Amino acid sequence: MSATPILLAAPGLAQEAELVALLGQRGASLTITRRCVDALDLMAAAGEGVARVAVVSARLPRLTRDTIGRLAALGITVVGLAASDADADATVLRNLDIPLVTMAPPDESGRDDLNVTVAALARLVVDPRPSSLEYSGGRSTQAVREIVKAPGRLVAVWGPVGAPGRTTVAVGLADEWARNRTPALLVDADTVGGGAVAAHLGVLDEVSGIVVACRHADTGRLDPPALAAAARTVHGDLRVLTGIPRAERWAELRPAALTRLWQAGRNTSGVMVVDAGFSLERDEEIVSDARVPRRAAATLTALAAADMIVAVGSADPVGMERLVHALGDLRRAFPETPVRVIVNRVRRSALGPDATGQIRETLRRHVGIGDAVCVPEDREACDAALRAGGTLAEVAPRSQVRNALRELVTEWTWPAPLDIAA
Ligand SMILES: Nc1ncnc2c1ncn2[C@@H]1O[C@H](COP(=O)(O)OP(=O)(O)OP(=O)(O)O)[C@@H](O)[C@H]1O
Ligand SMILES: [Mg+2]
Repeated sequence: MSATPILLAAPGLAQEAELVALLGQRGASLTITRRCVDALDLMAAAGEGVARVAVVSARLPRLTRDTIGRLAALGITVVGLAASDADADATVLRNLDIPLVTMAPPDESGRDDLNVTVAALARLVVDPRPSSLEYSGGRSTQAVREIVKAPGRLVAVWGPVGAPGRTTVAVGLADEWARNRTPALLVDADTVGGGAVAAHLGVLDEVSGIVVACRHADTGRLDPPALAAAARTVHGDLRVLTGIPRAERWAELRPAALTRLWQAGRNTSGVMVVDAGFSLERDEEIVSDARVPRRAAATLTALAAADMIVAVGSADPVGMERLVHALGDLRRAFPETPVRVIVNRVRRSALGPDATGQIRETLRRHVGIGDAVCVPEDREACDAALRAGGTLAEVAPRSQVRNALRELVTEWTWPAPLDIAA
């Protein structure tokens, strides 16, 4: 049987040279047609059509989800090669949506172990089943399997009327996750204040990302490459699905399509952060999906699909009252979903010298929440970010708002254990 040609893009891997030697032997099941030093090199080789399979390491320079999507569009099967002593490798590959991962053995192991890796690679190449994991190297198979199969998470950022800072928080959280090497897809699903996320990020999009994604969903074609293509890359691991540019276009977002969009987000590893707009003030609106006007569908479907709801309120007497009411509505509508409360724009001038203590006491007493996150007022930093069309980490990295959001992401714990398919 003739050897299957592959593109090898594994420059960071300790055993790369041995692997090359092994695959160069007569009778090998795979043969390397090109060794690629970075993702651009890989794309160029893929474009020449010299192989249908690419084997990539987690440390391949400039490797992004965009690359994977474009390789898939060219019909190339991508197999990830992780070092078996680096679980982080598997995480990176999983976050890049590379469903096929094999492990290289530890450095000190011999030819036999490497042969096992090659056999595993060959099996994946011949039978590329989604989400398969081949392992050699003998360490923490189950742990790596769990990492590779971990699902994506959906966080809906929501809050009462009065511009408490939902968009600022959604952009900041997504950006901090991305900087923490968790790929983040930020979705502007605010059908009232649509377009705000693009403005916050200085993104000019002629087409609305969420409308494109929903159209694909309407026709049953919202797969990971289609979702990736509808989104714009802001930087590295941060991508954005821009919102509807004019509020009157809300009718283009059908509830069923939105539900599929959230599902696609949860099927893609990383985190999908949804700017879900504002509270529906009346109980009966928020409680019953069937009776709500469809304009609320984006907010409601996102809240219904969320793994975690981030409720943002404003730290002033009116904002706190609205927040308390909104949290009551939220709990009645979605009693099962964990809620993280952020009280934003905390300042002495609005709530007195012990603003933080007062906020905590109010929330504890009225809604039984004792762990609200207080984000200070920092007008200068937020204005500078808006003016520059950049994130707080880019424009005001030392600002207190940025620090509070970064800390929240660093300490973030997901509410339930990972739901790992056997
Ligand atoms: N912690 C903060 N300190 C100072 N200004 C802030 C803070 N958070 C948000 N802002 C400012 O408040 C304004 C409203 O913020 P943002 O657009 O995030 O609110 P929103 O809840 O999404 O409002 P909308 O109802 O328009 O969607 C913006 O000018 C933003 O820069
Ligand atoms: Mg907003």
